[in-house]
Amino acid sequence: MQYTTTEGGLSMTVSVYLLCSIFVSSVFYILLRSSRCRRLRLPPGNLGLPLVGETLQLISAYKTENPEPFIDERVNRFGTLFTTHVFGEPTVFSVDPETNRFILQNEGKLFDCSYPGSISNLLGKHSLLLMKGNLHKRMHSLTMSFANSSIIRDHLLVDIDRLIRLNLESWSDRVFLMEEAKKITFELTVKQLMSFDPGEWTESLRKEYVLVIEGFFTVPLPLFSTTYRRAIKARTKVAEALSLIVRQRRKESEAGERKNDMLGALLAGDDGFSDEQIVDFLVALLVAGYETTSTIMTLAVKFLTETPLALTQLKEEHEEIRAKKSEPETLGWSDYKSMPFTQCVVNETLRVANIISGVFRRAMIDIPIKGYTIPKGWRVFASFRAVHLNHDHFKDARTFNPWRWQNNSGTISTANVFTPFGGGTRLCPGYELARVELSVFLHHLVTRFSWVPAEEDKLVFFPTTRTQKRYPINVQRRYGSQAM
Ligand code: HEM
Ligand SMILES: *[C@@H]1O[C@H](CO)[C@@H](O)[C@H](O)[C@H]1NC(C)=O
Ligand SMILES: *[C@@H]1O[C@H](CO)[C@@H](O)[C@H](O)[C@H]1NC(C)=O
Ligand SMILES: *[C@@H]1O[C@H](CO)[C@@H](O)[C@H](O)[C@H]1NC(C)=O
Repeated sequence: MQYTTTEGGLSMTVSVYLLCSIFVSSVFYILLRSSRCRRLRLPPGNLGLPLVGETLQLISAYKTENPEPFIDERVNRFGTLFTTHVFGEPTVFSVDPETNRFILQNEGKLFDCSYPGSISNLLGKHSLLLMKGNLHKRMHSLTMSFANSSIIRDHLLVDIDRLIRLNLESWSDRVFLMEEAKKITFELTVKQLMSFDPGEWTESLRKEYVLVIEGFFTVPLPLFSTTYRRAIKARTKVAEALSLIVRQRRKESEAGERKNDMLGALLAGDDGFSDEQIVDFLVALLVAGYETTSTIMTLAVKFLTETPLALTQLKEEHEEIRAKKSEPETLGWSDYKSMPFTQCVVNETLRVANIISGVFRRAMIDIPIKGYTIPKGWRVFASFRAVHLNHDHFKDARTFNPWRWQNNSGTISTANVFTPFGGGTRLCPGYELARVELSVFLHHLVTRFSWVPAEEDKLVFFPTTRTQKRYPINVQRRYGSQAM
């Protein structure tokens, strides 16, 4: 009896041992797959299990309110440049601002961006996010010139102000802030891109759109996922609806009619874009601004609610702006430019929330860095989040403290350290637009309403940064703010 047990134990041990060595050897296989890699000094790290690597650890960390330990532990063991294996590939993580800057500045030279095929299908092959080289340069500057600060000041702000007020007028009792913010953001983007005012058309496009977005976050085996198939179908519908508009506008444009919007700029230029190119381009802009801007609106309110002193100071700033104006309802550019504390709140929300926690790139050649080499073809992740939440760069880095931006007292060195919008040739073309939209939203919110959270709601960071319950709040119209 005893003997058998021992033997059983032994064979257990043997098979565990065998299994382990298969695991270990396949890890080494991945590591040393090419003889080239053997010569190279990789950044230190742990590749975890074969195939899944450390993906499960990463996901379970990012599904909590405090995902930081995943990176903290690895930085403590290996330093600010480490190797892991996530989402199907060995990946070098950079948690170092200098290296991040190096990665962003060498886009197209040493690194290029790469998305999985499932995402490319949803975006469309002519999307700005997938373009490279000269075409990317051209389209990036075109996008920038559609959303730069003089365009916002002279054209976009009026509609931003009007559509946000319009949305807030319908609020009463219980509101899911994230839902309202998404609606606002979508309506604004559709208006900016093709001059449509909110209505049934926009709302039914948005319904399809939500399905497309869901497709982006079906990570494993997208081809077998119903969410993904539904997303592809919805993408086709969205593209059809947009094609119709593009064709109509092209006709009008040939007849000499020009609207002052993004679509107008695309049709009027002498680039000769096809309808398909234009549609992909519009889809990508709708994707890039939608979740990001609406999440930042929601989280700014959440952080302010949890920091009453900051909320009080913000209210005072906006009451003062309102009191000084002859037309207190609407907000102009000079008003936007007189919100110093609001700008601190905006920066601090971007810093703490990290909507885009970092960017993936691929090494185009072997890249020597900090005494190591990133092998050609390897994936790299430049983590903004880890830098923004590092105590070496920001005092008390993990606390929401908008005052730190006032005299830069709590920012130890801002240069190149604060990159919520990325940098280099792929710097977010919507960076000013997002800031303006958030500021205008906060202005109308705090001057019209007071609110309390309707339920406790938690932040999570996977698959995207969001609150679990879409942040329900109970709102009450403030005395003196009529519902026009
Ligand atoms: C809080 C809101 C936003 C954040 C945090 C954000 C962040 C970012 C970041 C980090 C990138 C760089 C991605 C990379 O390097 O791979 C990016 C790219 C981009 N963003 Fe934004 N974004 C925001 C809002 C917007 C808005 C409102 C628009 C609409 C105009 C927009 C349009 C884009 C586009 C088109 C790109 C791709 C640029 C390229 O690849 O050349 N974003 N964004
Ligand atoms: C913004 O873009 C417009 C073209 O759309 C251009 O004329 C203007 O100079 C740009 N302004 C800034 C501040 O870059
Ligand atoms: C917010 O951050 C930007 C960098 O993205 C910086 O230029 C700006 O001065 C900051 N604003 C404040 C109020 O510190
Ligand atoms: C900023 O500077 C002023 C005056 O120097 C000081 O009173 C204030 O406390 C400082 N703010 C912070 C957040 O340190």
